[in-house]
Amino acid sequence: MSVHFIGAGPGAPDLLTLRGRDLIARCPVCLYAGSLVPEAVLAHCPPEARIVNTAPMDLDTIMAEITQAHAEGLDIARLHSGDLSVWSAMGEQLRRLDAMGIPYTVTPGVPAFAAAAAALGTELTLPGVAQSVVLTRTPGRASTMPEGETLAAFGATGSMLAIHLSIQNLAQVTADLIPHYGADCPVAVVWRASWPDERVVRATLATIEAAMPEGIERTALILVGPALGETEFTESRLYATDYDRRYRPQTADSPWAAWSDNDD
Ligand SMILES: C[S@@+](CC[C@H](N)C(=O)[O-])C[C@H]1O[C@@H](n2cnc3c(N)ncnc32)[C@H](O)[C@@H]1O
Repeated sequence: MSVHFIGAGPGAPDLLTLRGRDLIARCPVCLYAGSLVPEAVLAHCPPEARIVNTAPMDLDTIMAEITQAHAEGLDIARLHSGDLSVWSAMGEQLRRLDAMGIPYTVTPGVPAFAAAAAALGTELTLPGVAQSVVLTRTPGRASTMPEGETLAAFGATGSMLAIHLSIQNLAQVTADLIPHYGADCPVAVVWRASWPDERVVRATLATIEAAMPEGIERTALILVGPALGETEFTESRLYATDYDRRYRPQTADSPWAAWSDNDD
């Protein structure tokens, strides 16, 4: 018996890995974080599965569900939204499982920031404009930020920011970032990326608040950075015609010419 932690993706039931889908399909018990994992994803569960929404539970109650299934010898699919490496609360569950000697696996998922970038049709790391993406958040009722992890500190780098769990703090986000990016810096808010009712709002740091329609709350990502509006970026060297590389030596005496696997 194992607990299979599975990144359930941003919402669309077909934005799961094949491994994740197949694990869900063969587990007789499914615990899912119902605040963000939509019911459509549960269609991958076997028809007789015991399906439990953990949104109203505390950690002790969730662990009791897991230990009960473990005692029954049943595999568990444990679903969290997006990928498990960020804001999944997986860490505290793994620590308890380690202490109890209950085995587990971890299967990654499509993170929300990637689904939001796809909704925008945007590469977040454009050559010469942005080469770093900061996945961050602002403080919430239940979460403080470690000292130093401020929007101002990240903003000082000029990186592309993917700001999670913060749509309710939009006014503070813009106030913190305008001094670093300028009032005209492009911003995109993507609400429910990949859901059937996905919405995208594009504006600038100065105008985004006024541009927000009613009803955009909770499941929204704020992307901020010059790369969002840029069309004048340089092309990457990787595919430049004259770029000498292992897969495309330019001359017979190129250091790469000796490679025989040049079939790209
Ligand atoms: C608890 S975090 C979960 C992040 C998740 N583990 C991931 O890999 O993206 C929840 C936050 O992620 C963002 N988020 C999750 N799903 C989203 C979606 N489909 N569209 C836009 N933002 C989403 C929102 O900022 C939301 O407040």
